[in-house]
Amino acid sequence: MESIKINIDKVYGFVKKESIFDLESEIKKHNKALHEKTGKGNEFLGWVNLPSSITEAEINEIESAANQLREKCKIVVVIGIGGSYLGSKAVIEALSNNFYLLKKNRKNPVILFAGHNIGEDYTSELTELLEDNIYGIVVISKSGTTTEPAIAFRILKEHLEKKVGKSAAKKLIIAITDAHRGALRTLAIQEGYKTFVIPDDVGGRYSVLTPVGLLPIAIAGFEIRGLIRGARYMEEITSPETHFEQNPAAIYAATRNILYRAGKKVEILTNYNNKLSYFSEWWKQLYGESEGKENKGIFPASVNFTTDLHSMGQYIQEGERILFETVLTISKADNNVAIPFNKENLDGLNFIAYKRIDEVNKMAELGTLLAHIDGGIPNIIIEMPWLNEIYLGQLIYFFEKACGISGYILGVNPFDQPGVEAYKKNMFALLNKPGFEIESKKLKERLNLI
Ligand code: PA5
Repeated sequence: MESIKINIDKVYGFVKKESIFDLESEIKKHNKALHEKTGKGNEFLGWVNLPSSITEAEINEIESAANQLREKCKIVVVIGIGGSYLGSKAVIEALSNNFYLLKKNRKNPVILFAGHNIGEDYTSELTELLEDNIYGIVVISKSGTTTEPAIAFRILKEHLEKKVGKSAAKKLIIAITDAHRGALRTLAIQEGYKTFVIPDDVGGRYSVLTPVGLLPIAIAGFEIRGLIRGARYMEEITSPETHFEQNPAAIYAATRNILYRAGKKVEILTNYNNKLSYFSEWWKQLYGESEGKENKGIFPASVNFTTDLHSMGQYIQEGERILFETVLTISKADNNVAIPFNKENLDGLNFIAYKRIDEVNKMAELGTLLAHIDGGIPNIIIEMPWLNEIYLGQLIYFFEKACGISGYILGVNPFDQPGVEAYKKNMFALLNKPGFEIESKKLKERLNLI
């Protein structure tokens, strides 16, 4: 199988090659710890072998549940937040036609997302839209108690039940949650929903290759088998047995950590195809939640070029020199659009007449690469042969493996997220949740609300 490739030649002007390769034995140790489950957060390492351990029966069950919803619904609402929605959103956006929503004769259901915010406008406009449609719901929450998806599910469950009746609604709802614990599990048992389990040992942001990501992606009409094949290949080539230089996840983890030590504290994931913008959101969650703790960690940011060259491009070129870029580049484009020749040439564009749009984009990419290096921004390049399920599967596992290793290099537990609790505690207190009375008073005083 062809593979995604990593090229770090463009960081050598900033850090020494030896310093990156000096991490070889440490990285081998961390990679082994991930596989042997001996490092920090070892109760959440189920993702390491997900691609190779998923069975044919499990894939069939996901595909069959997806097909049932596909047959019944033109719209499916996926409810979830963080790791419970970003993976499927990233893959669906990457593989979908840009204007799918406006296409006539759509073959696949439209996937909408809810429960990833607490926006009243969003909720109101979504329920208004759903009024005229028979829709399905996939509700995803590992803990089964997260506020945002719980609110969205309460509203949409009631909406759907009113629309089609309680017993028909049950057949349009699938819950993905913990095997035994949490309010969503209790609700699913009581209502008799079809359910899938999020394994105990897989955390939210590492769960895209479980039903959490696979079911919505299959409902959207994409090849989850391709995704798994790609991830399985990456699982093989990033194993602790692979030589450092041949292991792209090891090289990436080493390079970004050496750049971090050299003062490059912000990593920008850059793409030149807007279909990857949600992939960057998934990546930001993966790295931000995994590494940003104990007052440490690279800040993950993202830009979509060339669009953002006309906004963030100025800062990247000439602002604080604390940045490095990781460029996601796609070798082969899917379409073929050439720029027409124009006799009058009033716009002065005939110098690129007959060239493909993709060629112009590639020159923008190469020109930006050199400009940013000249401006003091080291660049890591990750090349995907094509934008399809196989290479997205490779990319997902590649980033997950590198993230686990990176977290261990940094000395943190990459599989917990204690900091996420702070806002929840305050929100519950401000909403007078039983049990938060003392905190509630203190916070309201600070906010001059009492
Ligand atoms: O990565 C994580 O663990 C988090 O981002 C969770 O996915 C997110 O908070 C949603 O949690 P839950 O699936 O329990 O509703």
